Amino acid sequence: MAVRTDGQIQPHASTQDMFRLDRHVAIVTGAAGLLGEQHALALSDAGAHVVLVDRDVETCQQRARQITEHSQVKALALSCDVTKKSSWEDVLQQVLSEFGRVDVLVNNAAFTTQSRSKNYDRGFLEFPLEDWNQILEVNLAGTFLGCQVIGSELIKRRSGSIINLASLYGVVSPNHRLYPGTGIHQPVAYSVSKAGVLALTRYLATLWADQGVRVNCITPGGVFNGHAELFATRFGALCPSSRMARPDEMRGALVYLASSASSYCTGHNLVVDGGWTAW
Ligand SMILES: NC(=O)c1ccc[n+]([C@@H]2O[C@H](COP(=O)([O-])OP(=O)(O)OC[C@H]3O[C@@H](n4cnc5c(N)ncnc54)[C@H](O)[C@@H]3O)[C@@H](O)[C@H]2O)c1
Repeated sequence: MAVRTDGQIQPHASTQDMFRLDRHVAIVTGAAGLLGEQHALALSDAGAHVVLVDRDVETCQQRARQITEHSQVKALALSCDVTKKSSWEDVLQQVLSEFGRVDVLVNNAAFTTQSRSKNYDRGFLEFPLEDWNQILEVNLAGTFLGCQVIGSELIKRRSGSIINLASLYGVVSPNHRLYPGTGIHQPVAYSVSKAGVLALTRYLATLWADQGVRVNCITPGGVFNGHAELFATRFGALCPSSRMARPDEMRGALVYLASSASSYCTGHNLVVDGGWTAW
């Protein structure tokens, strides 16, 4: 027996079927980035039509083409600035006119070490308020707006799953000894924004739990993306799994949280960090 997102028992569904997302429509922000691509691939593999959203719409278009060539699902690329409510409203309107429904939202877009703000590398004492505001605007306000605009549609349907990408550094502090000499920096605003994403997730999860809408987080550990060898070596020495994550190692967590396999799971922070926070 399986349980649907609306809590009804679905006789004869296998455990494997609980992870399927056939006919579902999933929006992934930051889909032009490292993990965004993996999220779109994972959801389409599970049978969902995917909407790849980013400021960089050309990369999303290429990725959408590859998905449609290699699967039975539809993939749509849309331009969106997650910090603008009107941009989110355009996304919702286009998704509804193309598919007539939305089931899953993955709030993944962010200022990261890859897509850095102008002064991302500056130390705490010199960190400009301008960059603090920009990082919080994308990582936290962008997630808030996505939950508000797309969440309103999920509430209407009384069904849906929102997955917010948090970070290890919203749970624990970055280990400041990792960075000197590596050319990599972890600004305070990033950590604070991700701690905010965790709080937003819990707030909405409890607000909407009895309305059929689940809200959870994934907290990835450090994902390898051509990092300097010195950084990767130091990271490996501090991580119980002795290495950084591969980009595809978030896929299982995402499909679990998007699907009815996690129908009784809301307000959770699923940490996929190779054990980093366990010691
Ligand atoms: N990669 C890691 O090691 C890691 C670790 C922990 C958490 N995370 C989180 O996972 C998520 C994905 O990380 P990633 O490594 O793929 O990042 P990435 O930098 O590769 O991709 C981020 C994407 O967000 C987009 N973006 C930035 N501002 C935007 C805006 N205003 N509107 C729309 N799109 C915008 C960028 O264009 C980019 O494509 C992020 O939320 C990040 O904080 C990543």
